[in-house]
Amino acid sequence: MVIIAPSILSADFTKLHEEIKAVTDAGAEWLHIDVMDGHFVPNITIGPVVVENIRKKTSLFLDCHLMIEHPEKFVDAFLKAGADLITIHQESVSDPLVVIRHIKESGGKAGISINPETSFESIRSIIPEVDLVLIMSVHPGFSGQRFIPEVLPKLKEASQVIKKTKKRIYLQIDGGINNQNAGLVKKNGADVLVAASFIFKSKDYHTAIKQLKEA
Ligand code: DX5
Ligand code: ZN
Repeated sequence: MVIIAPSILSADFTKLHEEIKAVTDAGAEWLHIDVMDGHFVPNITIGPVVVENIRKKTSLFLDCHLMIEHPEKFVDAFLKAGADLITIHQESVSDPLVVIRHIKESGGKAGISINPETSFESIRSIIPEVDLVLIMSVHPGFSGQRFIPEVLPKLKEASQVIKKTKKRIYLQIDGGINNQNAGLVKKNGADVLVAASFIFKSKDYHTAIKQLKEA
């Protein structure tokens, strides 16, 4: 069964607790937290203090997506704040494995992400060491962008490589996911679907999450 990870980037931040409760009641298993620094991407969002506060209010699995330069400087703070999984970008570090191993040794789960224009080759060799692979299907920075279908072959390739490891490695897709493309990304191997605007801009979170699960 596919996991739905609502990204709070499109939530109403003036009532974040209610928003989190609403997606929990609507069937979300994970909460996706988009961390941006204004350098790696042209936007600034959430830091460890917000994660720490969210952690106090929810038992959902906290999936922190770091779109920041020098992620190695911040992983400890996010783990201490209560992150369950931290995903870093291949493009943000010279040696992702060092950071991945550090996250895992510190008791967290670790993910690696690639932007739409980054090849799967750049992370192929480290797949057996990660807990999650995130294929970006928009250019990171903002919610509400259009899904880039050209990433589908990369998603499929990642899925095949993950299968060969015989390990439980999540394959996540993030960006422009909605009821029109959810079936397609699942068919190409995705088992964790991130969605910000499709869920939080919908009138009924329960229906939106159900549509993604059943697509
Ligand atoms: C983009 C973020 C995504 C984004 C998804 O930089 O990593 O998680 O919030 O937003 P939607 O689902 O609206 O494309
Ligand atoms: Zn994200």
